[in-house]
Amino acid sequence: MINLKGRSILTLKDLTKSEIRFLLDESLEFKKNRNKIIKTQPLLGKTLGMIFQKRSTRTRVSTETAMVELGGHALFLGKDDIQLGVNESLYDTAKVLGRMVSGILARVFNHEDVVALAKYSGIPVINALSDQYHPLQALADLLTIEEHLGRLEGIKIAWIGDGNNVCHSLMVAAVKMGINMSIATPEGYEPDPDVISYCRGLQSQSGQISLTYDPFQSVKGANVVVTDTFISMGQEEQAKEKLEKFKAFQVNSSLTSYAKSDFIFMHCLPRHKEEVTDEVIYGPNSVVFDEAENRLHTVAAVLKNLL
Ligand code: CP
Ligand code: NVA
Repeated sequence: MINLKGRSILTLKDLTKSEIRFLLDESLEFKKNRNKIIKTQPLLGKTLGMIFQKRSTRTRVSTETAMVELGGHALFLGKDDIQLGVNESLYDTAKVLGRMVSGILARVFNHEDVVALAKYSGIPVINALSDQYHPLQALADLLTIEEHLGRLEGIKIAWIGDGNNVCHSLMVAAVKMGINMSIATPEGYEPDPDVISYCRGLQSQSGQISLTYDPFQSVKGANVVVTDTFISMGQEEQAKEKLEKFKAFQVNSSLTSYAKSDFIFMHCLPRHKEEVTDEVIYGPNSVVFDEAENRLHTVAAVLKNLL
């Protein structure tokens, strides 16, 4: 019996393969029996503090909706709402929230901030996007892949674009669940060497990770083609230089013609035209809105089991 009560999810490294499997099954259960679960109000009386230092549509809306449906309450603590970073340290904020709420969900710039929040608050902390990881996105991505392809083990994901936070979480999810992932980035935008070595340390018993600078090589024979924005939040000043370097990495129909004919296209959203054409993102192989919807079902499973 898997029990995740009181645990934090700062990265999917925090979860075993069986725990990820359990959360995916719980997500599917929420998706299928949402009205029945809402009636049981499993989080009655629980409050979640949601710290957002950056914008969000999917993460905020899915978390707030899930908390309400599960009988709890979500407090939105945006960067202009609380004292954090202006009048108060992260340490003091963590200590105070730890005395009041049942859990914290935090979207931050530095990954070390979610680590510190978990350390000092003493309550479950869920990473809602840091510069290093986006674990909730990867859970929703796994659910979407399994729903559309019927399996996870043995499939090939082609990641095209920036090797940062969303890519890192998908890499960890992939190796743990037996998925092979070919990552094509421009030179200088490869995934973090620590994340690569963590994944390579696991891959003898699970999925394989490979790196290339050639998007066509990555997409060849892929079941899933994924990209993310080329300019992450906080990188606006690098936009000109990055867009130039990422020019050859746009996902368009000439690139996807190298994938399997029944490939699916995924993107965590929000999307910009430079990383994917309308033809692909609004085309028959795209599952981006199922992927977005699955953010609700997966975060509901996470909250129900951790808080
Ligand atoms: N995919 C994702 O995390 O979207 P938001 O930034 O809108 O939350
Ligand atoms: N890589 C993007 C993901 C947004 C959900 C960012 O960090 O802004």
